[in-house]
Amino acid sequence: MSADVVIVGAGIAGLTTAYLLGKEGKQVIVLEDGEIASGESGRTTAHLSNALDDRYSTLENLFGQEGARLAAESHGAAIDEIERIALTEKIACDFSRLDGYLFLPANGTSQELADELKAAHRAGLKQVEQLADAGVQGFKTGECLRFPNQGQFHILKYLHGLVDAITAQGGHIFTHTHVETVEGGSPARVITSEGVAVTAQAIVIATNTPFNDRVVMHTKQAPYRTYVLAARVPKGSITKALYWNTADPYHYIRLQEVPEASDDLLIVGGEDHKTGQEENPAERLRCLEEWTRAHFPQITSVEYQWSGQVMEPVDCLGFAGRNPLDKDNVYLITGDSGHGMTHSTLGAMLIRDLVMDRPNSWEKLYDPGRVTLKPESIKEFVRENVNVATEYTELLTGGDVAKPEDIPAGSGAVLRRGITKVAVYKAADGKVHECSAICPHLGCVVHWNGLESSWDCPCHGSRFDAFGKLLMGPANTDLAPAE
Ligand SMILES: Cc1cc2nc3c(=O)[nH]c(=O)nc-3n(C[C@H](O)[C@H](O)[C@H](O)COP(=O)(O)OP(=O)(O)OC[C@H]3O[C@@H](n4cnc5c(N)ncnc54)[C@H](O)[C@@H]3O)c2cc1C
Ligand code: FES
Repeated sequence: MSADVVIVGAGIAGLTTAYLLGKEGKQVIVLEDGEIASGESGRTTAHLSNALDDRYSTLENLFGQEGARLAAESHGAAIDEIERIALTEKIACDFSRLDGYLFLPANGTSQELADELKAAHRAGLKQVEQLADAGVQGFKTGECLRFPNQGQFHILKYLHGLVDAITAQGGHIFTHTHVETVEGGSPARVITSEGVAVTAQAIVIATNTPFNDRVVMHTKQAPYRTYVLAARVPKGSITKALYWNTADPYHYIRLQEVPEASDDLLIVGGEDHKTGQEENPAERLRCLEEWTRAHFPQITSVEYQWSGQVMEPVDCLGFAGRNPLDKDNVYLITGDSGHGMTHSTLGAMLIRDLVMDRPNSWEKLYDPGRVTLKPESIKEFVRENVNVATEYTELLTGGDVAKPEDIPAGSGAVLRRGITKVAVYKAADGKVHECSAICPHLGCVVHWNGLESSWDCPCHGSRFDAFGKLLMGPANTDLAPAE
């Protein structure tokens, strides 16, 4: 099988890339391990924002004023692009423009807002303004910055619209197709786990975290779990807008209108922590609910709760472009952080231009091979990589429990067995399943995640289901059978 471009992953990054290249007349094939949007795109809260969560004041320190300006420009252009695609392709995805408000947590200071206001203005966002209060219905923000012209949409409706558009352009999407091998060159090719080879002029890895890059990219970004709830609030009781605070980790809030119902859904996220490094993830959801109820007493009931994963780059900006230390025709999009909707879209626009051999002023800023030698990024690089190195000491320690009998039904724990460790899951019926606890990516010991019933790797964020089947990379195989 062959195509002009093979794209791996059918989340927003892969599908937008396929759509934009299809529009250029390229024959595209998308290969997806699961279903459409079965990765993090299916878990998003879909704020479309250029109020970047690492703050323009920080970006200016790291990338200079021009870098901060390009970051603002590119995320704004991504919102415009999503709006344009939805209009052109007539995708009814509830896209709307709205204000976003950046407010302070209890311990926040006016100074941080004042500094961010100036930095946002220098980055070209001249309409950002500081207010004593947002003055919105149903939520007292207190002092805040207003970012006009942000967006929100319904991600699943949008992605299914993209699928129709890609197919209408003559592109092909294969779901339940796992890519095992990626080789750049002329021609480039990918090989699926069924052994099918697909050749192409270019390959785009849009798998949220790249599985084809074993080390380089994984020293530059770190995986974090984030938590979300959706609660009923009486219709009209809270102004439809995006809200974020400056806490670390921060809270992100939006409304989802529910047609013909008397309530809307208030969607609130936050309580992030490094993947595989929280013993009690259910407690994070409890804290999130407590925070939400304290700030939004209008809530009548919490209807949905879920969690997901974001990749946080150590120097605060995502990556899109050529895969470092690889052939020139292998591209990737990763490092989404809380802005993966816009980052994936601008990444797709950038990769379209690289494939079409056109100049793009964002190329250098998002280059996956970039090295940001600023004290802030070096400190973060060292902090995250020391954190990873510490995880390797677990290879020497005892297990979570001594024997399978100590594991409650419906739960999992790691056991030491001789020189290695075993991931033991006890199903609700008491049946015990064992596999190796050693992550096939780079050998860290996985941890049990009781909320998702998964084995999560604390080093670079690979995840496996209770039986050891791969859920997400950078590992590209299941946990091995227990020895
Ligand atoms: C709870 C939560 C809230 C968020 N809120 C926001 C928000 O409000 N605004 C915002 O901008 N961003 C937000 N984000 C981030 C954003 O959702 C993500 O960055 C974005 O969805 C990532 O898209 P993607 O296409 O890169 O990855 P994914 O959607 O994860 O898609 C990658 C796909 O690749 C497939 N794949 C992986 N490996 C292989 C393989 N070997 N072979 C074939 N296929 C493979 C996977 O199955 C998956 O479907 C949030 C994220 C989370 C988790
Ligand atoms: S994800 Fe890298 S060692 Fe597990």
